Amino acid sequence: DPPNLQMEDAATVSRLNCRAKGGAAGFKVAILGAAGGIGQPLAMLMKMNPLVSVLHLYDVVNTPGVTSDISHMDTGAVVRGFLGQQQLEEALTGMELVIIPAGVPRKPGMTRDDLFNINAGIVKTISEAIARCCPYAIVNVISNPVNSTVPIAAEVFKKAGTFDPKKLLGVTMLDVVRANTFVGEILGLDPRDIDVPVVGGHAGVTILPLLSQVKPPCSFTPKEVDYLTDRIQNGGTEVVEAKAGAGSATLSMAYAAVKFADACLRGLRGDAGVVECAFLASQVTELPFFASKVRLGRTGAEEIYPLGPLNEYERAGLEKAKKELAASIQKGVSFARK
Ligand code: NAD
Ligand code: LMR
Repeated sequence: DPPNLQMEDAATVSRLNCRAKGGAAGFKVAILGAAGGIGQPLAMLMKMNPLVSVLHLYDVVNTPGVTSDISHMDTGAVVRGFLGQQQLEEALTGMELVIIPAGVPRKPGMTRDDLFNINAGIVKTISEAIARCCPYAIVNVISNPVNSTVPIAAEVFKKAGTFDPKKLLGVTMLDVVRANTFVGEILGLDPRDIDVPVVGGHAGVTILPLLSQVKPPCSFTPKEVDYLTDRIQNGGTEVVEAKAGAGSATLSMAYAAVKFADACLRGLRGDAGVVECAFLASQVTELPFFASKVRLGRTGAEEIYPLGPLNEYERAGLEKAKKELAASIQKGVSFARK
């Protein structure tokens, strides 16, 4: 029997039981903003993930109910709820992966940048707590505008002396998920068999699908390229308008967040060949942050892949993307240094 087992620590019991059954020990994951539109389905899906042994659910409202509800699911992860800023540090202590969907969503007519004034402060406060309580955790930032909130978190971590560029990842997975779906529709193929790299950032023209690099190899007419690029870049707005004031993408986002979090956990476990797109500190372009394909390993994004050959259409898109991205990054950095 394992020595020094604290019987009251159900999380430890769960990890050891899992190991005893021949499985790998799971990881400790926190969701911040867990009672929200994304947070609730994300919490449910993470409770179903066999790589998770402990799931901490933090929000400023409603976490007791969400936690009680999710804790009845007969899956391995032990769930604990945390309510209000006085419990933020407790929620974060010991976490190996922190997922952040905290903050306000768009309404029709708004850009993601219109969320900056509220969400920048939320991400800053949360990042300061992460630097204090779990400085080695991988951090997945979902809160918009991602093009600015990731630079904010980076500045906070730099100030605290804990910044590891491999571990701070802006979640752009939903752009890839949408691209795979829309390309699948055009090609008449199962979207699960399609891989579209989407690089740049996560807002409008900064979302740059590389349709010349779609796998399996295929070709599109210029009209199809225009249609697909526009639909992928404006997928978020499509949902915001359809929801007509009731928020933005939550269910497809929770799905995408779990797909990305699961990739991070498989990387942490040591699986080989885990490659996804993410927005992170990067030298792929002259900008300090950029989304591109990365290989996820035991220490986070261990390798960042170059963009590969771009056609003329994509080169023009890249220039546009970089211009807007540079301003959004600078806005985040200035806010955090203020
Ligand atoms: P929501 O309003 O339904 O939920 C947000 C949750 O955050 C709420 O439960 C709220 O109480 C909580 N919250 C607010 N302040 C907090 C704080 N200081 N600490 C912890 N929690 C706090 O919104 P949503 O639809 O879940 O969207 C959340 C964010 O995710 C938005 O900023 C949205 O734009 C963004 N988003 C990003 C992507 C992406 O692809 N990266 C996709 C969809 C949505
Ligand atoms: C999305 O892409 O769905 C999110 O960034 C939410 C939004 O505001 O569009």
